[in-house]
Amino acid sequence: MSQKRAPDRAARVVRRMQDLSNTIEEIRGRLEDSRMPVVLSGAGISAESGVPTFRGAGGLWKNMRAEDLATPEAFERDPVLVWEFYDYRRRVLAGVRPNPAHYALVRLAERFKDLTIITQNVDGLHSLAGSPKVLELHGNIWRTRCLGCGRVEENRDVPITIPPRCACGGMLRPDVVWFGEALPADVIEAAFEAADRTDLMFVVGTSGVVQPAASLAPRAKANGAYLVEINPDATPISTVMDVVVKEKAGEFLPRLVGI
Ligand code: OAD
Repeated sequence: MSQKRAPDRAARVVRRMQDLSNTIEEIRGRLEDSRMPVVLSGAGISAESGVPTFRGAGGLWKNMRAEDLATPEAFERDPVLVWEFYDYRRRVLAGVRPNPAHYALVRLAERFKDLTIITQNVDGLHSLAGSPKVLELHGNIWRTRCLGCGRVEENRDVPITIPPRCACGGMLRPDVVWFGEALPADVIEAAFEAADRTDLMFVVGTSGVVQPAASLAPRAKANGAYLVEINPDATPISTVMDVVVKEKAGEFLPRLVGI
């Protein structure tokens, strides 16, 4: 019986590889014609660097409650607990490097000088890899903001003194966007503009459930863009995509751009 199954399996693998090659050719053709591709990324693009995602197996929000750790109310109630959570994440991030998916996008930006990466990630890995134009929708975990004087500063202390204080005496918070908070106006405006102008959007490693980031792909589509999702799992926004590539970003993107 196993002898009969083996050729079926081999045939399936060959078919999958052929499908993938055809998909790559199709997307390369779209890139040839594109004036302004845009990338929307989420936690999944950093997964192969060893950064935990939020949802899905092993995701942060599987074991921890966002309401207790990532809201302004949680910080007001227990700043030490919230800072311990962010200190933990900063410790993890301090030891990680960008992966081939981040570097593939750097290569793409060499070809498309205006390539905008709109990211929901706070890990700074796109910039660390060398991508020149990154819009950080949800802030950056390596910055602090003073609740007293409003000063925003880079802070790479690992561990960080908890709770950290500003020179003015005010308490510092992570300069990230929490649930229930508005995104930085200039950043989201620039992201909307990019979504309105692009003709080719790559949606990489996001579950597409957090707004307004999740609205960027349908918005680009409404303006005529061709949408490519790269994610091993289906998402609620898979249905608006022109192509769904069920592969890991760190494997697919380098192949697509030829590195
Ligand atoms: P999620 O954790 O919700 O989703 C990660 C997605 O990445 C999932 O759809 C996975 O299937 C996919 N994925 C996992 N490994 C991958 C790989 N190697 N290649 C490609 N895709 C992969 O992360 P986000 O969508 O980024 O916000 O979450 C959005 C926001 O929710 C975050 O920015 C954060 C979170 O709460 C705030 O903290 C405000």
